[in-house]
Amino acid sequence: MKPVEIKDGIFWIGVVDWNCRNFHGYSRAPMGTTYNNFLIMDEKVTLIDTVPKEFWGTLKCNLAQTLGDKKIDYFVINHLEPDHAGCLALAVEKYRPEKIFTSPMGEKSMKAHFHYTDWPVEVVPTGTEISLGERTLQFVETRMLHWPDAMLTYCPQAKVAFTNDAFGQNWATSERWADEVDRHTLEELMKSYFANILLPYSPVVLKTLKALGEMNLDIETICPDHGLMFRGADDVKWVLDKYVEFAEQKPKNKAVIVYDTMWHSTEKMAQAVATGLVDEGVSVRLMSMKHNHHSDVMTEIHDAAAVIVGSPTHNNGILPMMADMMTYMKGLRPQNKIGAAIGSFGWSGECVKVLNKWLEDIGMENIDPVKVKHVPTHENLNQCYEQGKAIAVAIKEKLG
Ligand code: FEO
Repeated sequence: MKPVEIKDGIFWIGVVDWNCRNFHGYSRAPMGTTYNNFLIMDEKVTLIDTVPKEFWGTLKCNLAQTLGDKKIDYFVINHLEPDHAGCLALAVEKYRPEKIFTSPMGEKSMKAHFHYTDWPVEVVPTGTEISLGERTLQFVETRMLHWPDAMLTYCPQAKVAFTNDAFGQNWATSERWADEVDRHTLEELMKSYFANILLPYSPVVLKTLKALGEMNLDIETICPDHGLMFRGADDVKWVLDKYVEFAEQKPKNKAVIVYDTMWHSTEKMAQAVATGLVDEGVSVRLMSMKHNHHSDVMTEIHDAAAVIVGSPTHNNGILPMMADMMTYMKGLRPQNKIGAAIGSFGWSGECVKVLNKWLEDIGMENIDPVKVKHVPTHENLNQCYEQGKAIAVAIKEKLG
């Protein structure tokens, strides 16, 4: 994709990664992603963020097209994760910037990543303002969105906020603006991004959004480093409101049953629990780990009121794909959920004890588990059905 002038003298010079499916190892990107970065053509020509190292050729090409015979004076590095700072060392070597601006934590992270000795790094804590000539840039630390080093760069003259990971989505598109694409798809991808990347930092997200609101920045355009950008008062409000909604994690009348099964006994139990929930009016997602990626399960869990986890006993524990799911879920720390465990066993029968411990560690309010020896009888399935109904009652109480 060619550079795009998004505001007078401000260019998107990013990369559309149509082939990305695995978002640097931990999350799914079924529709690709983009690595957005920006160039401001002012008296001090300023590069905001870079792209992953493998796209260095594309970045050089985009810069050549936009710079003409100008050089780059300043770099602003909002976040040091390699999807944004991957080309930093190569860019420093090629363009020899006069200054590199980053947050206080960014400087620490930059040193640990690049082990430089003579880069012209200048730390810009929250409240710092620099002049580029006609424009100024202001910096706001946005710690844990998504690393401690993260910061937001705001240009008051253009009313643009460069927000790095915040407000991103994994979506490779030929369009650059949120108002040019299907809104439902955009929202689903924003939700998935939040649930898999920013969820554990929800309290910090709310605090940061409140602090930003109190700063009264006049923002007309939000430019995240992944996916579509947001322009105009309506879209800026829309995306800010969505982030409050995502971070508040208010549960809906919905339950996710995530399970793995060896010989279908636990699967039959999961289906019986689902029937109990549905009969009480709860919307259910039944998700087998053999057919669903843990990222997609987390996206569904994000706004669910209950999570039911199922696994047969395997080597005195649980099946490996459920161990993966529980590890992933615990790390993302979903809030405000009811939990319950189910599982079949042959002899030792530790499955529900192990699953319950995971649920407790995540902080869920647990409903009594159901455990079945080998193959569930009609009576056993009825126990699962009743568990589903009990969970539905607990959901109703929780939602008021
Ligand atoms: Fe898109 Fe935290 O990097």
